[in-house]
Amino acid sequence: MGTAIIGLQWGDEGKGKVVDYLSPHHDVIVRYQGGPNAGHTVFYEGEEVVLHHIPSGIFHKNTICVIGNGCVIDLEAMVEEIERIEYLGVNTTGRIFVSDRAHLILPYQKDEEAKLEKTMKIGTTLKGVGVSYTDKYARRGLRMGDLEDPNRLKEVLKMRTKDARKVKNLLMKLYDETAHLMVDTVSLLHHFWKSGKKILFEGAQGTMLDVDFGTYPYVTSSNPTIGGLFAGTGLPPAAVDRVIGVMKVYTTRVGNGPFPTEIKGKLAKQLREKGGEFGATTGRERRIGWLDLFQVKWAARINGVKEIILTKIDVIAGVESIKVGVNYLLDGEPLEFYPATTDMMKRIEVEYVELPGWPEIDENFTWYKAPKELKDFKRFIEHYLSIPVTMVSTGRRREDVFLTD
Ligand code: IMP
Repeated sequence: MGTAIIGLQWGDEGKGKVVDYLSPHHDVIVRYQGGPNAGHTVFYEGEEVVLHHIPSGIFHKNTICVIGNGCVIDLEAMVEEIERIEYLGVNTTGRIFVSDRAHLILPYQKDEEAKLEKTMKIGTTLKGVGVSYTDKYARRGLRMGDLEDPNRLKEVLKMRTKDARKVKNLLMKLYDETAHLMVDTVSLLHHFWKSGKKILFEGAQGTMLDVDFGTYPYVTSSNPTIGGLFAGTGLPPAAVDRVIGVMKVYTTRVGNGPFPTEIKGKLAKQLREKGGEFGATTGRERRIGWLDLFQVKWAARINGVKEIILTKIDVIAGVESIKVGVNYLLDGEPLEFYPATTDMMKRIEVEYVELPGWPEIDENFTWYKAPKELKDFKRFIEHYLSIPVTMVSTGRRREDVFLTD
């Protein structure tokens, strides 16, 4: 049985918390794309922990965590991450598996990304993720498994960097520290699937950052959408029977690029501060906007989302009237499709409806006691998308996720 957790906006929808919440009901948690650009925030014993490579289910002692072949890995950063998790008292021994097909992020790729960013101004996380994927598709990348192939290492490093020897020495040191984690995750995952294990797939970033379906070129370099799951694990579609989309009741994005429902000024600042809307990986201020249902509908469609988890309902609480984008107009006419180009995105106008906000949400919140305005807001979303909202999340604590009626 497999459940996919996919972001329906520009990332940072609260997937880390959702995965952490659902993990006790699953045996295996899998990352299938992205790398240290992701920052999944989880609270463990009162401490905020930001995970970049390791699946957010690591804090539940019976789970196995798998980093699939679609991911890119900064080995040095991953080793540090595991040490930090161990330091918090979590035993990771025998619980983390890394694909031998996952690509590595190499020092020269990070340097190149920094240079590229100066001219391209995408607003990347500068973790080398984009260049690592570029090298993957250009067939000059190095994968985990190549650490056992001196000839391939030599050939690629000679072609790509002047510091070949230095990089090789670094890689050999890191290989010593991580070789025990490396397996053929395709066989492993097929084994788990066939033996009836419950698998949770943790998408990183969000649909609007997808290299194919997002606001290109202001996107990441992988496919956070459902297709990326299959390419990034080697499992077939039959292994996924539940696709859950995660969305906030408003929108945020980090980095540059189109953001049709963006708001600036006092309210944006207020929501940013109340919601802690600062990049988990880079600390950058997240841009803030109203909920954009036209955009979410596009995301839900691409992923075949069958249910939705609505997050951060407490952050926008107290705002008297909440705007929701429901249509994109181009030259006054509603669009039937999501625009493919930045130029078209610049020319669209968003049509909004305004819905009453709900009062502040306190610690004793339960869905049964939820304010009427919130229940109406949820119904509006469900009606617009024709998809049920099955859970809502408030606050930071893992337990503050509620099943709805
Ligand atoms: P990259 O993934 O570092 O190449 O960055 C490309 C774009 O994706 C930039 O706008 C980043 O801010 C954004 N991005 C990458 N990872 C995340 C994430 O985990 N959350 C939100 N935005 C992200």
